[in-house]
Amino acid sequence: MARSGFFTGLDIGTSTIKVLVAEFIGGEMNVIGVSKVKSAGVKDGIIVDIDVAAGAIKTAVEQAEEKAGVSIDKVNVALPANHLQIESTQGMIPVPSETKEIRDEDVDSVVKSALTKSVTPEREVITLIPEEFIIDGFQGIKDPRGMMGIRLEMRGILYTGPSTILHNLRKAVEKAGIALENIVISPLAMAQTVLNEGEREFGATVIDMGGGQTTVASMRNQELQYTNIYAEGGDYVTKDISKVLKTSRDIAEALKFNFGNADVDASSTTETVQVDVVGETSPIDVSERYLSEIISARVRHILERVKQDLDRGRVLDMPGGVVLSGGGAILPGVVELAEKIFRTTVKLYIPNQVGIRNPMFANVISLVEYVGNMTEVEAIAQNAVHNEELLRRKPIDMTTTYTVAPVQPVTPQSHMSTETRVVEPPVPTEEKINDKPKFGDRMRNIFGSMFD
Ligand SMILES: Nc1ncnc2c1ncn2[C@@H]1O[C@H](COP(=O)(O)OP(=O)(O)O)[C@@H](O)[C@H]1O
Ligand SMILES: [Mg+2]
Repeated sequence: MARSGFFTGLDIGTSTIKVLVAEFIGGEMNVIGVSKVKSAGVKDGIIVDIDVAAGAIKTAVEQAEEKAGVSIDKVNVALPANHLQIESTQGMIPVPSETKEIRDEDVDSVVKSALTKSVTPEREVITLIPEEFIIDGFQGIKDPRGMMGIRLEMRGILYTGPSTILHNLRKAVEKAGIALENIVISPLAMAQTVLNEGEREFGATVIDMGGGQTTVASMRNQELQYTNIYAEGGDYVTKDISKVLKTSRDIAEALKFNFGNADVDASSTTETVQVDVVGETSPIDVSERYLSEIISARVRHILERVKQDLDRGRVLDMPGGVVLSGGGAILPGVVELAEKIFRTTVKLYIPNQVGIRNPMFANVISLVEYVGNMTEVEAIAQNAVHNEELLRRKPIDMTTTYTVAPVQPVTPQSHMSTETRVVEPPVPTEEKINDKPKFGDRMRNIFGSMFD
């Protein structure tokens, strides 16, 4: 059931922080204000300096307030997939005998009963998405409220993240003077917005090319199947141009925007552009072909690493192919290069809302759409998670006992290569454990592992 009202999204990207205010009327989203400021205090998608990040968030929110003409007191925040873990969970409660008719409170209780497992002290539950409810053995119920029963069960997916990352995120938003409404898992929201119904059902992959990182999310049977993060994006292209041509970052960025093409075959062999370089008294001529070779090497490097992992998970043969988004995908030739590398259909996602027809806004749009389209049951579950986590974080309230499961190893990001070389061989990723865990006790490490 679609919600109505105002929703604000805050997307703390590696390159830019975006804020979007939208009004939902009967499920229709109308964008009323958007802002974009340079990111600060963020590294590899994670807040590393709370005060600096808070300052940038505050500026972005103020600009969005001005554009939208409304005051923003709470925001929904996108959480990148870094160090995310997913596991199946189940809960069960007896329906109180005085009612027997299932109410909001019972949904809240059954969600809470599913939260008590496997949360290690250094992790937190970000969200729980109910998949189905079971009343007295009858399965497949999406919304049990109003139904009669004695025993209410729920199967769902639990998303957890490191407490440090979540703490820094909350603290930065709080220091910016705004309340946090919901934390939304970015690749989950992206897949909902960027892919259409058919693509989500039959399978497709979203590649979000940000400034400092590239996020991959594959969806099939309406479920997130796979996600991975690569610490490279559009800003690395700029750095490469700057290093190779010995020119400033600003000039390199301008060259990329105005003359760049990731597809060498499509670049001009005759056109040249004059570039100011360090150590030369007069500008030098750089051919568009040479510029394209520099750009293409980095984009190819990113996409080939992605392909290697997608091949391993046999996700590339999914009928929906690949959909690109993010500012890094705006560059001409990226789609064409991706087609050559992935050998599947590739398209660029361009939002269709007026004023934000730019792939850079895909993240923040998807976040707001996700929140606006949350079902009532999902909202109850999210609220239950939030309240339970508040209790858990307050030492004096730790009367509830939590089962502490053994620490689940996080697959290291073996391919977290940093800037520098333009052409470097892709670092092989570790072999992924591809066991067939059973429902109920499987712990899915979202990094590079395929979900069964
Ligand atoms: N018109 C454009 N042409 C080429 N690259 C662009 C363009 N606009 C933005 N970019 C690149 O997009 C990247 C930022 O994308 P974005 O999705 O906002 O990243 P993030 O979400 O990580 O902050 C930067 O590397 C920037 O250079
Ligand atoms: Mg982004």
